[in-house]
Amino acid sequence: MAVYVDSANLEEVREALATGFVRGVTTNPILIARTGKTPEEVVAGICGLEPAEVFYQPSATGKEAMKEELHRIREIVNGFSRPPDLIPKIPATWDGFALVKELAPEWRCAVTAVYSAAQAYLAREAGACYVIPYVNRATRFGGDGPTLVAEIAYVLEGSGVEIVAASLKTPDEVVAVLVNGAHHITVPLNVLKAMANHPLSLQAVEEFAQTSRRFRNLR
Ligand code: G3P
Repeated sequence: MAVYVDSANLEEVREALATGFVRGVTTNPILIARTGKTPEEVVAGICGLEPAEVFYQPSATGKEAMKEELHRIREIVNGFSRPPDLIPKIPATWDGFALVKELAPEWRCAVTAVYSAAQAYLAREAGACYVIPYVNRATRFGGDGPTLVAEIAYVLEGSGVEIVAASLKTPDEVVAVLVNGAHHITVPLNVLKAMANHPLSLQAVEEFAQTSRRFRNLR
């Protein structure tokens, strides 16, 4: 199981990777556009922070344009002395599945923006290593994100294809997808921080501190 930070913001990525337990970074064209930087600048910045893996989604659409962009990004990544594993994140579309089939012998591919177990099944048949369901979005659009993950887990069972659950907004949603068969999660920094905290943990820490202060004063 791995946790990834879902961000293109270098300060957020830096903070997440500094924990030591975040394996890598997932990004998408919207997250990159929000930074005001080019995809090449963002990827170079992320590589400088030395994550183990970077999931990169091309902004181009169409099979050939996506392929060309991925090769361009790979050159940037390979220019670093400690390059991360670059994992193409290809949207679940007709062209996308065909591209995964073509890239699969050479690249470990992820199929992203997955909203059905049927798409997950095609991802498996195309040779993807990962499927990325959009959990909260699926719920927001009238479905049930955690149930979607359970269905995908069933379809992928025994295949070796792993689920990276994305579009997660709360720690409870993270738990629901892990219970339902997600292998990995990718979350924004605020959700990662929310996962680390619980009001009762903070209360317990405060109680420990108060008690030890009291005993020190007695001595
Ligand atoms: O990477 C997936 C994620 O960024 C998209 O979902 O709900 O955060 O827009 P959402």
